[in-house]
Amino acid sequence: MRQDFPETGQILLAEERQGEAFQALDTGIQGTRKFYIESYGCQMNFSDSEIVASILSENGLSPTKDVLMADLLLLNTCSIREKAEETIRKRLKEFRSLKKNNPELIVGLLGCMAERLKDKLLEEEKLVDLVVGPDAYRELPNLIQTVDEGFKAVNVFLSREETYSDIAPMRLDSNGVSAFISIMRGCDNMCSFCVVPFTRGRERSRNAYTIVAEAKQLFEQGYREVTLLGQNVDSYKWQNPETSDVISFAGLLEMVALVHPDLRIRFSTSHPKDITVQVLTTIAKYENICNYIHLPCQSGNSRILKLMNRTYDREWYMQKIEEIYSIIPDCAVSSDMITGFCSESDEEHQDTLSLMKFSKFSMSYMFFYSERPGTLAAKKYEDDIPLEIKKRRLNEIIALQNQLSSIHNKQDVGKKFKVLVEGKSKKSDEMWKGRNSQNKVIVFPADQDNLVGKYVTVEITDSTSATLIGRRV
Ligand code: SAH
Ligand code: SF4
Ligand code: F3S
Repeated sequence: MRQDFPETGQILLAEERQGEAFQALDTGIQGTRKFYIESYGCQMNFSDSEIVASILSENGLSPTKDVLMADLLLLNTCSIREKAEETIRKRLKEFRSLKKNNPELIVGLLGCMAERLKDKLLEEEKLVDLVVGPDAYRELPNLIQTVDEGFKAVNVFLSREETYSDIAPMRLDSNGVSAFISIMRGCDNMCSFCVVPFTRGRERSRNAYTIVAEAKQLFEQGYREVTLLGQNVDSYKWQNPETSDVISFAGLLEMVALVHPDLRIRFSTSHPKDITVQVLTTIAKYENICNYIHLPCQSGNSRILKLMNRTYDREWYMQKIEEIYSIIPDCAVSSDMITGFCSESDEEHQDTLSLMKFSKFSMSYMFFYSERPGTLAAKKYEDDIPLEIKKRRLNEIIALQNQLSSIHNKQDVGKKFKVLVEGKSKKSDEMWKGRNSQNKVIVFPADQDNLVGKYVTVEITDSTSATLIGRRV
């Protein structure tokens, strides 16, 4: 989609730029143009930024980590809660002053906020030149050209097919040990609070063989851990057009696990209604599929879960938890929780606390409800819980989770774990930092050897609510 921009000043500027772009094409010096990309939101967004970086570098732009060096500033945005959008607007204001000093600078918004607000963003945020939704990144080079020609450019088309299957992501900010692999896009679950189905469109699964090829390539490059990403990985389903065979998530997990026994597999996010016994038994069967499941619950109360349209109730969730612990006894389970959803009573909030205790989550991501325009909840239910009650309930579940995490971690003291080392600890250069299969961060004293990307056995000697501390054995 191309948008005419009526301000003369802009058009004049564009004529100059057009000359420049031409010259660049003629002389093949496009590589001198630099882009800077900043990502917000979920892992999918960070993974998408790597796809964007790959598309741009294929088209002659090169990445920079320095905002001041960039000709193109991109923000890959998130709409999940109001606060996420506020943070991005603040950052955009900071970019404005840069643009004032350098009028040729192009500022682009990508991702979910771009999709949600579409061309409204061009009106609201006068200095944005480019608005591109999550399924339109292949169009970026053309859209940049449009901006070069003096127009504003918007493409927020949502696709039913796009999976960027053939694009090799350019690994940004990588530790060289762990990487994301996007296995599907979009979401067909209409959770009533959630904006994702609107910003990411319909669910579609990526070709399983390109996923396995990407995992193989990463392993050959020295990576030792991949995280398979999707909003609801358990509904992964890909039909091979040649054989008509259908590959499920359990099948895909097995295929990736077989790439190499030294390649660890993680995945996110699982939906309680879709995670199958086959997935659980596949995790149990392969040592290199990590014993860790992020299984967002959202609320411990069945009436609230129904209003949220999560399609399971408290009892169903608890049964799933029991099933997980019986098939994979040393599995760690984590969750997402929302407090203060529409009409939630104090008693119903107590159900969330008791379900957290029952489930023995190793950790949780916790939020208070933030109404999102256009969602089912915004249309059907009143956002009637006062902010201070939402926050009080949130503080209660955070305090409980801290206790649960402390207990969970204390139980690991004395145990030995196989740890994949990611690098030096942030707090101290004298400690290595890595993770065990259960996704717990483990630190231990650094010796002479460079252990990055290596597996070592660590015996746990101490713990906090966030970290296990140990020594190499
Ligand atoms: N696909 C994943 C989660 C995606 S969003 C899943 O199904 O679990 C990540 C988390 O943000 C959600 O699990 C939920 O806990 C939280 N979240 C989503 N919408 C929200 C809203 N409107 N207000 C507060 N938290 C929200
Ligand atoms: Fe949102 Fe629900 Fe889809 Fe997760 S499963 S992305 S919470 S609609
Ligand atoms: Fe945010 Fe979009 Fe992810 S709304 S959480 S970036 S899918």
